[in-house]
Amino acid sequence: MQQTLIELLDARVSAALAAVGCEGAPAVIAPAGRPEFGDYQANGVMGAAKARKMNPRQLASEVLEKLDLAGIASKVEIAGPGFINITLAPEFLAALAHEAMADAKLGVPQPVSQRVVVDYSSPNLAKEMHVGHLRSTIIGDALARVLRFLGHEVIAQNHVGDWGTQFGMLTAYLIEAEQGGEATLALNDLEDFYRRAKQRFDADEAFATHSREYVVKLQGGDAQVNALWQKFLDVSLHHCEAVYEKLGVGLTRADVRGESAYNDDLPVVVADLKAKGLAVESEGAQVVFLEEFSNKEGEAQAYIVQKQDGGYLYATTDLAAVRYRAATLKADRALYVVDARQGLHFQQMFTVSRKAGYAPQGMQLEHVGFGVMLGEDGKPFKTRTGGTVKLAELLEEAEHRAFALVSEKNANMPESERRAIAAAVGIGAVKYADLSKNRNSDYVFSWDSMLAFEGNTAPYLQYAYTRIAGVFRRVEHFDAAAPIVLEEEAERQLALALVRFSEALHSVARETMPHFLCAYLYELSGQFMRFYEACPVLKSEGALRDSRLRLCRLTADTLKTGLGLLGIGVLEAM
Ligand code: ARG
Repeated sequence: MQQTLIELLDARVSAALAAVGCEGAPAVIAPAGRPEFGDYQANGVMGAAKARKMNPRQLASEVLEKLDLAGIASKVEIAGPGFINITLAPEFLAALAHEAMADAKLGVPQPVSQRVVVDYSSPNLAKEMHVGHLRSTIIGDALARVLRFLGHEVIAQNHVGDWGTQFGMLTAYLIEAEQGGEATLALNDLEDFYRRAKQRFDADEAFATHSREYVVKLQGGDAQVNALWQKFLDVSLHHCEAVYEKLGVGLTRADVRGESAYNDDLPVVVADLKAKGLAVESEGAQVVFLEEFSNKEGEAQAYIVQKQDGGYLYATTDLAAVRYRAATLKADRALYVVDARQGLHFQQMFTVSRKAGYAPQGMQLEHVGFGVMLGEDGKPFKTRTGGTVKLAELLEEAEHRAFALVSEKNANMPESERRAIAAAVGIGAVKYADLSKNRNSDYVFSWDSMLAFEGNTAPYLQYAYTRIAGVFRRVEHFDAAAPIVLEEEAERQLALALVRFSEALHSVARETMPHFLCAYLYELSGQFMRFYEACPVLKSEGALRDSRLRLCRLTADTLKTGLGLLGIGVLEAM
């Protein structure tokens, strides 16, 4: 199919509206609110009638007369003040399910391809990755996967924090550690390394001076200091990569383009903003005043691009980066998967980039914000002693807990198998718990709820997949090309749910909301369970059995593909 069901119905209802003189009136197609309203409803007639001062029910019946859904719908009705309720024909859904099974992309239509930059993960390399970077990493990864699946060209950008005054301090401390012969050891724990460097910096004036000199040397391109800095970054990136590997996130060194990459561009950007009359001097700093963001007193907000002392800021670097993403990477769309608390920064940065012409009008700029991960006490997630939780340790604990659960259920399974299941379930649970929530809200990190085999969790969906895989282990032969026949309502509902995979993916890509895909997969599993209870599969015979097995097959494929797009693995047995 070239369109999603919603797009198809939209085109048909819009054509009918046009045929009765309501050219351009939106059809407003939505999934039906209740089963008795059919599968979809067209809600646009009321609006069209109002704009034309017509009776909505009268208009609805005129639209209905022109509405051509032959071969698509089995029932079309007017309801309430002028809703049009549409029930799709079983033969039509069967044909779509059949098509989906023959297609590597499961029948998901490919939109016009865009080049999309996704800025995600982007930790600060001075310290170890913490839980705040977990959200960016997995949300960004899921979006990148979905966009790629839809045929877009994704360019991942890991905008790591690898520049700034801390790096003077860290390289100065690295020299000391090396002289003491314990640099490698000390770098095993970056958190600790940073803490000790900071202690030295605060306690020892000579060391602090030294650190500041190093910053200058680093910026001046001094070879020795640069080599040390590189060494530090390398170790820090190794720590990140261990986390990416555990998470199954495909970020590599090639995706790293850190703040330091834009260094030479910063004076160029500021000079350009000045030349364009956008940046002006204010109290010694270079500032862009933004009327769009004026405060209560009506004063334009100041967006600082160069400090009094001549230093550049996070903001300046982001302006250089957006220019690069537009001019060099030629992105049609750029996503910034970053903590919601940076929302104002991005809105202002986007505004400046438009004004300065760094991002052309046609390029979409979106801040994909997310809330904070909370502990079960409802406060920001911390260790028991109030420290930041290291991601590597959190993920280890996830596997550990999943291993205990799996061992409880399958005491006789070989340990290596239990470990493999624990990895998929433990990591899957952590990722899914995050991805299944609306990213804009804060969420409570709870081991018990994410590892539950009931409810909207990874283990539940992984288990649903495994159950279907189990069905196929009991099948010796079936005709994988047999026609799909939808006689029971539960069969028709399952086919409808399967065909709606494309809508879920399209809305994830459009609205950058991975939880739409989670909600879809959960709904699909529910629909499958209802089907499986109502319609015997292995006990049925002949063509009916083949048809039902094919529905099972497509469900398994859709679950596997969908979870895969969230970066979550499935298991043939668990
Ligand atoms: N390093 C920043 C942080 O840890 C995130 C960078 C996000 N990306 C960007 N282009 N600003 O908060």
